[in-house]
Amino acid sequence: MGIATNPFKDQSLCLIKRILPLTLYALLPIALLPTALLCLHFYPLSFPPSSSPQTHHLPHSNSITITYHSSLSSSSSSPSSSRSSTTNSSSTEKEKAYYDDEENQCDYSNGEWVSDNISPLYNATTCGTVKETEKCTPNGRPDSGYLYWRWKPSQCNLPRFDPNIFLQLVRNKHIAFLGDSLARNQLESLLCMLSTISTPNLVYRNGEDNKFRRWHFPSHNSSFSLYWSPFLVQGVERSNNGQYYNTMYLDHVNERWARDIGNWDMIVISFGHWFLLPSIYYEGGKILGSLNVAEFNHTQIDFYDPLRKALRTTLNSIIERKLTGGRNGNSNNNGVDVIVKTFSPAHFEGDWDKAGTCSMTRPYKEEEKKLEGMDAEIRKIEMEEVTIAKEKGNNESGLLGFIRFEALDVTKLALLRPDGHAGPYMYPFPFSEGVPEHVQNDCVHWCLPGPIDTWNEIFLEMIKKWK
Ligand SMILES: *[C@@H]1O[C@H](CO)[C@@H](O)[C@H](O)[C@H]1NC(C)=O
Ligand SMILES: *[C@@H]1O[C@H](CO)[C@@H](O)[C@H](O)[C@H]1NC(C)=O
Ligand SMILES: *[C@@H]1O[C@H](CO)[C@@H](O)[C@H](O)[C@H]1NC(C)=O
Ligand SMILES: *[C@@H]1O[C@H](CO)[C@@H](O)[C@H](O)[C@H]1NC(C)=O
Ligand SMILES: *[C@@H]1O[C@H](CO)[C@@H](O)[C@H](O)[C@H]1NC(C)=O
Repeated sequence: MGIATNPFKDQSLCLIKRILPLTLYALLPIALLPTALLCLHFYPLSFPPSSSPQTHHLPHSNSITITYHSSLSSSSSSPSSSRSSTTNSSSTEKEKAYYDDEENQCDYSNGEWVSDNISPLYNATTCGTVKETEKCTPNGRPDSGYLYWRWKPSQCNLPRFDPNIFLQLVRNKHIAFLGDSLARNQLESLLCMLSTISTPNLVYRNGEDNKFRRWHFPSHNSSFSLYWSPFLVQGVERSNNGQYYNTMYLDHVNERWARDIGNWDMIVISFGHWFLLPSIYYEGGKILGSLNVAEFNHTQIDFYDPLRKALRTTLNSIIERKLTGGRNGNSNNNGVDVIVKTFSPAHFEGDWDKAGTCSMTRPYKEEEKKLEGMDAEIRKIEMEEVTIAKEKGNNESGLLGFIRFEALDVTKLALLRPDGHAGPYMYPFPFSEGVPEHVQNDCVHWCLPGPIDTWNEIFLEMIKKWK
């Protein structure tokens, strides 16, 4: 059951890349997208079979294991028949009562995906803001079943996204999406849903790959900005023609976004994946250690502590700068709502003989896939830091009700959607001329439309409660 029958199974490079030994890195034949989070599959077995990359231990750490598909092989033999029905009449009534009770806040993070025959609000052809690599259906993805699932929280119902309500709630507001490419992915989903009722104007763009952009909805005077800052803190990203490792300064926020804090009413933070790449970490002007950068003989450390520090520095800076009214003479000194979107797991399977490395076409059942390992650990750090920031906000007089911190906890619902990624359909028609020697797969970002739309449904419920 759990034993791979094909000895060459798991030949993919995606996991190897995550813990990148130097020698292997040099062998990577293609330019990676900025995220460096894609997976490359070789059909002929051009790499010597190494030990199974199913699990990887980080250096100097016995307790932390990166596992991407520990339950995949075993789960394939235990299909869904055991799933219990969650919606009989009496439980539905109970949910309603629970949901109607305003004292109770529903926990949207736990639940299951249930099939649903309602089409998404938009499609990738009608929405102008979808990145090419996320246009799954136009790129030839043959199945559409992944579009017909609805997230059903255990204790309540999650209403379908209502673009009218959302835009009313953010009238005259400026919302910044900050962080890595998942921030972009989520904002694009949001813009697609909002633009079904009102057309935004792209009013600013800058940077390679348009990493900095701003849209404005004249109908509601609402602005949405995108800030590329995958570490949140100051640093230099690894690149194909520069250093192969990231350099991060864990105690300094990235001024590229921080200088604009005064203009924002809401901040949505998304980060994590870039911390898995080789990195050198600085703190207090000194090197704290490095991850998979062997040549300088730094202390090898894993990325959990740096990730925590980067987030803490970020949330503290937001508090400090809002308290001092923002630097650089920013006039808007309104309060701000800070939303930390929790880690979005990747779904690289490593099946060497399949077209996609995330080839599933249906969600996992709840019992089929546990939240564990690295995904669980990163989420935990994020939840803990949000709690600490909330406390700080409550402790500082003058901050109460002025800065709100909340986690948008999508880790579990995202974990259960291995079917929601572009996989090989990040590029148009990858198999139009037969199966090529290698296919690049994206099992990190989400198809639009797709499960990431649900993140924004929960986002809307959060801001409804805040109103
Ligand atoms: C309905 O749900 C309740 C609570 O979950 C359960 O106790 C009951 O057995 C269910 N009834 C049926 C007919 O499934
Ligand atoms: C998208 O929607 C438009 C209008 O509803 C429709 O004409 C088109 O076929 C759809 N495209 C896809 C790829 O589903
Ligand atoms: C439009 O929204 C911005 C914030 O994004 C605000 O500063 C400005 O005052 C608003 N304009 C009007 C006319 O309300
Ligand atoms: C790292 O350690 C190795 C082995 O001790 C040594 O040969 C090498 O010079 C060291 N490199 C640096 C940059 O100090
Ligand atoms: C908030 O204040 C309480 C009581 O003064 C203190 O115990 C706690 O450590 C403070 N928390 C933070 C995050 O500053």
